[in-house]
Amino acid sequence: MHASLANSSLPSQVSIVEVGPRDGLQNEAAVSTQSKIEFIDRLSLSGLNHIECGAFVSAERVPQMADSTQVFAAIQRRSDVCYSALTPNLRGLEAAIDAGANRVAVFTSVSEGFNQRNIHCSVAESLKRFEALLALASKHHIPVRGYLSCVVDCPYDGATHPQKVASLAHTMAQMGCDQISLGDTVGTGTPVRIARMLDATLNHLPAHKLAAHFHDTYGQALANLYQALQMGIHVIDSSTGGLGGCPYAKGAAGNVATEDVLYLCQGLGIETGVDIHKVVDAAWYICGRLHKSPTSKVSNALKNSASD
Ligand code: HMG
Ligand code: MG
Repeated sequence: MHASLANSSLPSQVSIVEVGPRDGLQNEAAVSTQSKIEFIDRLSLSGLNHIECGAFVSAERVPQMADSTQVFAAIQRRSDVCYSALTPNLRGLEAAIDAGANRVAVFTSVSEGFNQRNIHCSVAESLKRFEALLALASKHHIPVRGYLSCVVDCPYDGATHPQKVASLAHTMAQMGCDQISLGDTVGTGTPVRIARMLDATLNHLPAHKLAAHFHDTYGQALANLYQALQMGIHVIDSSTGGLGGCPYAKGAAGNVATEDVLYLCQGLGIETGVDIHKVVDAAWYICGRLHKSPTSKVSNALKNSASD
């Protein structure tokens, strides 16, 4: 058993990008600013070293993120944690800089249908917007991540061709994004389709430039992640409690739950540096504020075993 693990192509450690406070809470009922701050502060104590805390987007379009400036102002920052935000345009970047975000992320889609609904422009127009943003971010020495949505399917345009993902990921990296996060936004992917998409993309970019961002609508996210890990991906986006989804991908569930990823990694002997119990604590805290239980199997299992 040990020997086969040692010989496998799995990485020895992974980095987790915690997107719960943004991707999670953008698609849940509104919670108070204070609850978000408490949620992020708890996550900061868990060993997670990258937390996406908010989004500087139109408050009319995504009201749940309208208090991002206040959230950034009040969280208890740790020097070993990167606190990042989504920035769709220059205005968003300026707000993120004022708020003291350590890192920002631009976002576009491989598909035109989703892009038009999400950010009201074509893929080409979105890239044009990013040019000015990347230039200003570079002036301020702020690294920019690039999200690419609908890498498997688009809710409006149907199946996505892997070559399109590869080519756009390459373009975004060439423009200056230091990492490309590949989003199965609708969560319809299965391991073989993920493998095809990654295979095409890895022909253009090395694995260390990529991250896996898988929503769990059909319950395939962990299987898809296992596939991605075997192909050398070692940055995983996940959302504590399995919260969220995207307002412009109707019916899409939240990201794979952080605690479920931690449990998988623990079982595979992959180092994460994160305390699963502290993440589970944060999951129950924020879900309590939302009057629901975490969708995460691990959060539920650990709570049940603790109450025995
Ligand atoms: P626009 O719709 O093209 O139009 O905005 P606009 O530029 O004329 O602006 C419209 C309104 O937004 C105006 O306000 C602007 O002032 C305001 P109004 O005059 O009507 O009162 N505005 C802003 N407000 C705050 N911050 C800004 C900003 N920019 C303009 N930075 C825009 C384009 C992208 C801003 C808009 O369409 C928008 O905010 N869309 C929401 C996008 C969003 O947050 N989607 C969810 C996150 S993406 C996601 O979840 C996918 C991901 O997780 C990966 C995956 O799973 O695949 C990342
Ligand atoms: Mg997402």
